[in-house]
Amino acid sequence: MTARPTSQRPRRSCLYMPGANTKAMEKAKTLPADVLLLDLEDSVAPEAKDTAREQVAAAVKAGGYGKREVIVRVNALASPWGREDIAAAGAAGPDGILAPKVESAEQVRALDAAMTSAGFPGEATLWVMIETPRAILNIAEIAAAANGARLACFVMGLNDLAKETRARAGADRAAFFAAMSLSVTAARAEGLSAIDGVYNDIADAAGFDAECRQGLEFGFDGKTLIHPSQVDVANAVFAPTPDEIARARAVIEAFTLPENAGKGVIKVDGRMTELLHLEEARRVVAVSDAISQLA
Ligand code: COA
Ligand code: MG
Repeated sequence: MTARPTSQRPRRSCLYMPGANTKAMEKAKTLPADVLLLDLEDSVAPEAKDTAREQVAAAVKAGGYGKREVIVRVNALASPWGREDIAAAGAAGPDGILAPKVESAEQVRALDAAMTSAGFPGEATLWVMIETPRAILNIAEIAAAANGARLACFVMGLNDLAKETRARAGADRAAFFAAMSLSVTAARAEGLSAIDGVYNDIADAAGFDAECRQGLEFGFDGKTLIHPSQVDVANAVFAPTPDEIARARAVIEAFTLPENAGKGVIKVDGRMTELLHLEEARRVVAVSDAISQLA
């Protein structure tokens, strides 16, 4: 399989729900989340793993999720459930799977091969959790494994990373800056999407809003979410603003003027504007168009 260009598919709001919770999977059909992460891993107790797997497979097969991207979070291949999870997902046909605790290129290749054996079509994507110290140390090699494989997206698992590193991140998340920045940088180097970690305090709307904005500043495409009340804010923060869209259109228009033909640098609204800004402007308009098409 050849490498894909970076997806323009909006991934602003990626809502987790426990695969053991059929009510949540039903409610998800009414929520404006870009991505649904049907979880078989951390949010499902060992005794409930088999039931959750059956329920998730049935929900995916039944469909009804519209344009939402449906991703099944499986258990690790090394766990007692991973292979069966991938086999069941392959038979049900979600858009892709999210694998936990991935730490090496070799694991990416093993997951890719497991997806192929499970009958996933070529366009089905592999998303991986970045949530262990070794994943951060090996981040470049993990991202590079995207070349020729299904790997499409990094998802930060900051609750696990905090546990493993013993970092005590406060509201500013300074303790995670290096991990967050390395993950986004490695993802961009290989054309992958990158999604920020969850915000656990469901009741703290102001804190959640601030953390979404911080994730945007780091370059993330969206945020993983745990509750329906978080969807609208993530959708708003991770979408280009009307101002950004207007500026992008102005840049594109300026470069199409006959007097600017063949120029590498021009002035738009008093600002130096180069071809790299034109590329960014085209990206902003493409993202905005992709978001409009979801409605
Ligand atoms: N996805 C879809 N629907 C959800 C949801 C989710 N993540 N979390 C809550 N809901 C639904 C509830 O089913 C309820 O639906 P209803 O109005 O039809 O009855 C409604 O939203 C309100 O839920 P609320 O009572 O506020 O929350 P709760 O006490 O039922 O659940 C949690 C709280 C934390 C257990 C729940 O939000 C949850 O399981 N979140 C996801 C956890 C997860 O997947 N973690 C793994 C990754 S970190
Ligand atoms: Mg985890």
